[in-house]
Amino acid sequence: MADLVQTRRDGNVAVISIDNPPVNALSQAVRADLLDALVAAKADAACAAVVILCAGRTFIAGADISEFGKPPRSPTTIDVIAAIEALGRPVVAAMHGTALGGGLELALGCHARVAAPTTRLGQPEIKLGLIPGAGGSQRLPRLVGVELALTMIVGGDPIGAEEAHASGLIDAIIDGDLAAGAIDFARRLAAAPAPPVLARERDDKLAAARADRAPFEELASRLTRRSRGLEAPAAAVEAVRWSLDLPVAEALARERATFLRLVAGEQARAQRHLFFAEREAAKSPAIAGVTPRAVRQAAVIGAGTMGGGIAMCFANAGIVVSVIDVSLDALTRGLDLVAANYRASVARGTLAPADMEQRLALIRGATALPAIADADIVIEAAFEDMEVKRGIFADIDRHAPAHALLATNTSYLDVDAIARATQRPKSVLGMHFFSPAQVMRLVEIVRGAQTAPEALATAVALARRIGKAPAIVGVCHGFVGNRMHRLRSVEAERLMLEGALPQDIDAAMTEFGFPMGPIAASDLAGLDIGWRMRKAQGLRAEIADLLCEAGRFGQKTGMGFYRYAAGARDAKPDPQVERLIIDASARLGVARRAIGAEEIVERVLFPMINEGARILEEKIAQRPGDIDVIWVHGYAFPAWRGGPMHYADTLGRGHVRARLAPDRTIHRLGTGFC
Ligand code: 3HC
Repeated sequence: MADLVQTRRDGNVAVISIDNPPVNALSQAVRADLLDALVAAKADAACAAVVILCAGRTFIAGADISEFGKPPRSPTTIDVIAAIEALGRPVVAAMHGTALGGGLELALGCHARVAAPTTRLGQPEIKLGLIPGAGGSQRLPRLVGVELALTMIVGGDPIGAEEAHASGLIDAIIDGDLAAGAIDFARRLAAAPAPPVLARERDDKLAAARADRAPFEELASRLTRRSRGLEAPAAAVEAVRWSLDLPVAEALARERATFLRLVAGEQARAQRHLFFAEREAAKSPAIAGVTPRAVRQAAVIGAGTMGGGIAMCFANAGIVVSVIDVSLDALTRGLDLVAANYRASVARGTLAPADMEQRLALIRGATALPAIADADIVIEAAFEDMEVKRGIFADIDRHAPAHALLATNTSYLDVDAIARATQRPKSVLGMHFFSPAQVMRLVEIVRGAQTAPEALATAVALARRIGKAPAIVGVCHGFVGNRMHRLRSVEAERLMLEGALPQDIDAAMTEFGFPMGPIAASDLAGLDIGWRMRKAQGLRAEIADLLCEAGRFGQKTGMGFYRYAAGARDAKPDPQVERLIIDASARLGVARRAIGAEEIVERVLFPMINEGARILEEKIAQRPGDIDVIWVHGYAFPAWRGGPMHYADTLGRGHVRARLAPDRTIHRLGTGFC
């Protein structure tokens, strides 16, 4: 096995290099070797300074996540940092790629930090249900001030090298040869009359926040506003607050204790599960070792909300995209909506005006299919109707280049039947985006019976490139997500007929952790689509259909299961709907009773979980974790509960099975409202 850590000498500078592919995670073996290298450097009288850098694509991207949940093994990252701080000579971290989590914490323990211009630096522990566990919550505020530190630790997103430099996180940006620049930097530090002050010993950047706590507290409440149910954000705020209130040694000890408590908890376990599940969901034996095709240009057929959102995904990733709609009016409306979405981001301050212009310039409109002649991928996002889609695919087949990947964004329909409308079913698959496509991370990659491995690999690689979480699934009605979602809707209807009101169901599910209840979510999505689909299939959902028959299509008509004031989004319970539900129960002869939150949660989730198990049996999904990824990234299932299948495991599958009592079923309802 190659050495994980190597030391070479460049004059009087010891250069310690870590080589632990793929992301130089700080595994126990790396920590041990790194500590040995630091001890050796300390013992070397001729060594005036040390540089720590990494081989490969990145600086240390954090602790080795696969070690979490197991007993901690010495030496810890804290031990390594202590050795750096006690070395008696300047130690410089030279960073490139992503310096994250424990990797950034190690750099914070060094006497100075330099980075390549494209480096991203962050404390993403929050995304794993954690807070920094090796001093990040104390050293980072001392270098960059408490507000940026809080934003980085509670938000979890990295910052770029320029911002890191401007804020004092790094001391220099090195253009060109990073190692040579870092060695030079270290040598200059060694020659300076006084050594640099360690981060833990600095206090200057905390003075203002100590004198006036209000900005910190306001920022803390803003950053944690959407973290109901989560333990880590509040713990992170508390830890950063300790930097203002406690001696550094005590604050570091408390940070460690909190980290150890969180890492052993259910929430962190669930989020770790998702971290690995997300990466697994993009894998399949069918595409192992298959090289994806290059994608330089894309085309989207259909300029509706979905088509426009998909086009934004491409433009956001710097890919040229044509949006094609046969109706000039629809095209203009669609492109206007895209521009309005970008303008809203600029107004919110999340997008620079220049970036908006750049992205808009990548999106081209057209009203005829010859516009796809140069596309490497064509995604159809037209009306959800098999004949419409088959017609479009036959046309696409005539105009798209031979190598192009042809994808349908259908939410339910048979991808194989769509593929058969072309002469090249091997190039056809589903890429099912979720609304709003430019925001939601999930893309179900639907593998048809004839889809070629190369086409599948291309779709997966492309989805990752545009920042999505792809999950490979097989063909069935509604694929994985919507097939399970239907069960949720069926059960919600039953609950309403048996005694629960929309607001009871939504309250129980938001208390469980969903940001929005299922009933309010269907009002937002619009009730009419499901109504039309049911009518076409001769199915009925009693309450939802009655609402649609009364012209109540959800938020867009100001009325659905709830009532909405003009232009407002908050759902107000509506006595008319309550009457309608109670009358429906009476008409169907269902005795109403009080239904508690626990029963609501079980009845909404357990049939879905059961369907998930069927989906696995049928091999429509490859792994339970794939289903979890789909529900977390496509339907806002609370990440800290790990997704429906992980949640079932935490309860015990036997428990779920026992609670799926057959006598609770009201079969005559047929189907749900979506
Ligand atoms: N530990 C273990 N494995 C890791 C890892 C980590 N920290 N980070 C990435 N990996 C693995 C992935 O599972 C994946 O494995 P696979 O190829 O077998 O599927 C492989 O490395 C490559 O990862 P990605 O596919 O994610 O590669 P990308 O290039 O897309 O992204 C990255 C690279 C930005 C570094 C991304 O992997 C990432 O964000 N990693 C996690 C970073 C993180 O959360 N660090 C903090 C850890 S907690 C911590 O440090 C605690 C400390 O405070 C004590």
